Amino acid sequence: MGALIIAVDGPAAAGKGTLSRRLATEYKLAHLDTGALYRATARDVLAAGVDPADAEAAAAIAAKLDPATLGDPALRTEAVGRVASIVSAHPAVRAALLEYQRNFAYHPPEGTIGAVLDGRDIGTVVCPQATVKLFVTASLEARSGRRLRELEAAGGPVDAAAVLADMQARDERDSKRSSSPLKPATDAVVLDTSGLDADEAFGAAVSIVRARIRSFSGSQA
Ligand code: CDP
Repeated sequence: MGALIIAVDGPAAAGKGTLSRRLATEYKLAHLDTGALYRATARDVLAAGVDPADAEAAAAIAAKLDPATLGDPALRTEAVGRVASIVSAHPAVRAALLEYQRNFAYHPPEGTIGAVLDGRDIGTVVCPQATVKLFVTASLEARSGRRLRELEAAGGPVDAAAVLADMQARDERDSKRSSSPLKPATDAVVLDTSGLDADEAFGAAVSIVRARIRSFSGSQA
């Protein structure tokens, strides 16, 4: 049997990150937050003074990305998130980051039997053969409420209307772009977390994964 791959896709602030980390711990899998790759590219684009609309220059920066910097707290700022949303729409940037993601999924770090990857196009483009595909979503209001609370907890000044507008703009860019638009894979299970807290979302995800692994092992037997 090949690597066990769990693909977790969905829009901003749907709860993919927390859910993916918990699934990775539960099943002893490695975890890759692929949004961090786009955020790191955005950070380096900003540092180099490159125009985020310049696809070729942004792709050259993506190709030189140092994965050791993916835990950089600077990746979490709203400014970096905004530029990440722009550079991630360039097909050349996506192509430059594809191999790293596939390699992580199919050759997970030693001691793990597979990986959880979260992002926008894991089930559709990066790992179309993933063992389990979850599409985690929530209403625009639920997601912007969560992002607002995160920003408040981080102590920054927050403008609720601006957070909502930004989330809407990001959804629009993610789903309308021609390269890897955000949409559930045809074989993904949709998990709407609007009315669920983190524990409930995790419980629902584990049930989906369990059922899928059971039928997967069954079909291999
Ligand atoms: O949750 P949020 O959208 O703020 O951030 P993220 O998941 O860290 O992703 C940052 C940006 O990268 C988003 O604007 C996504 O559009 C983009 N992204 C992508 O295009 N493909 C991925 N596999 C992951 C993220």
